[in-house]
Amino acid sequence: MWGGRFAAGPSAIMREINASIPFDKALWRQDIAASKAHVAMLGAQGIVSADDAALIADGLDKVAAEYEANGVPEDWDLEDIHMTTESRLAELIGAAAGRLHTARSRNDQVATDFRLWVRDACEQADAGLQALQVALVMRAGEHADSIMPGFTHLQTAQPVTLGHHLMAYYEMIGRDRSRFADARARMNRCPLGAAALAGTGFPIDRFRTAEALGFDGPTDNSLDSVSDRDFALDYLMAAAQCSLHLSRLAEEFIIWASQPFGFVTLPDSLSTGSSIMPQKKNPDAAELVRGHSGRIAGCLTALMITMKGLPLAYSKDMQDDKPPVFEAAGLLALSIAAMTGMVAKAAFRTPRMRAAAELGYATATDLADWLVRQANIPFREAHHITGSAVKLAESRGVALDQLPLADLKAIDTRIDERVYAALSVEASVAARASHGGTAPVEVRKRVAEARVALGLED
Ligand code: ARG
Repeated sequence: MWGGRFAAGPSAIMREINASIPFDKALWRQDIAASKAHVAMLGAQGIVSADDAALIADGLDKVAAEYEANGVPEDWDLEDIHMTTESRLAELIGAAAGRLHTARSRNDQVATDFRLWVRDACEQADAGLQALQVALVMRAGEHADSIMPGFTHLQTAQPVTLGHHLMAYYEMIGRDRSRFADARARMNRCPLGAAALAGTGFPIDRFRTAEALGFDGPTDNSLDSVSDRDFALDYLMAAAQCSLHLSRLAEEFIIWASQPFGFVTLPDSLSTGSSIMPQKKNPDAAELVRGHSGRIAGCLTALMITMKGLPLAYSKDMQDDKPPVFEAAGLLALSIAAMTGMVAKAAFRTPRMRAAAELGYATATDLADWLVRQANIPFREAHHITGSAVKLAESRGVALDQLPLADLKAIDTRIDERVYAALSVEASVAARASHGGTAPVEVRKRVAEARVALGLED
């Protein structure tokens, strides 16, 4: 393709280090689509004849059909998907194939193909995350009343409901979806026609190609067009953030499935056994989701570091933009699918969760709140009185509501028998009905809103 200037061919090392076809063949659909939009525009503008434009478009369809049937051939001499396709086109239709590259460069071509690919990846992530949200909302609806311990520092803090806990992840995933949507909206401008870096002298119509490819319009600076990879970074940032959330959810399942917790039985379909210990059922899928988040963060770091020192405009370093994005997209799709299955199929052991919520003086705050409300005691003082009650209960190895009234009165005379109603875990969660609180009535409201937002209601 560029032999005219060279006396000798590339060395074997040069060929190998230069070849991106092993990975950028994944862009073949986008490459064909962008070439078809380009040649239709060249024909419409009279830059190539209508006959040649039609011949090229037909030829591109034939190449696409071959790729679909047999895969993309990997010839390192042809470097990348762009030259592979053009060379096959020339074999199929002859000299007219050489007109396709009029008024474009591989620099704007790859920028366009890759944007199209990443745009699809944003849509796929969104679809997967929507399914995960549906699973979360279904299970949260089932468990709006199921009581479990809520933790801070992984120490029992206050009782919460399992539905509330699951809806926390619904919120996180909602922010991820908005990040992918935001990235998609920002990247949706077409670099095709920026040519190598400076634009072109041919009378092209960049608005036409942009529209044909579903972009909102052309990009506005040719140098930026061929050197910008923000769209890939935006995608990776959204993917990395999302994978952190999936990793945290995975970690919950790993802890909950451990024997001392025993809050959940994982689906067999997403667990593995041990080759030596017959009793084992390991949460491997969740552990791999947790592990994959590290790799996805690594993909983001890789591309940030590739890009950080590059002057305008295109540099070949940028060919390395694709592997981390492809890798992250594959890992993310698997992670989303694994967590969706886990949420949908896990068997929550609600009696154990409830029993655990009774341990650790989870309703101590309710005693303090009761003192504030019923006896008009300042919260700090109520906190102190409650601390003495917890200390006494702990020394006797009983729960707070098992302390006789006489002992409670000995700690503070203002305590009376009505306090016991406030000390149950049910009363504790029911009391927390502030907006966004854990009370079952609030959780049901959030679930109902989420079902509407997800289109689960008409
Ligand atoms: N395979 C190249 C890439 O992905 C295409 C652009 C090559 N441009 C060039 N001037 N060598 O970055």
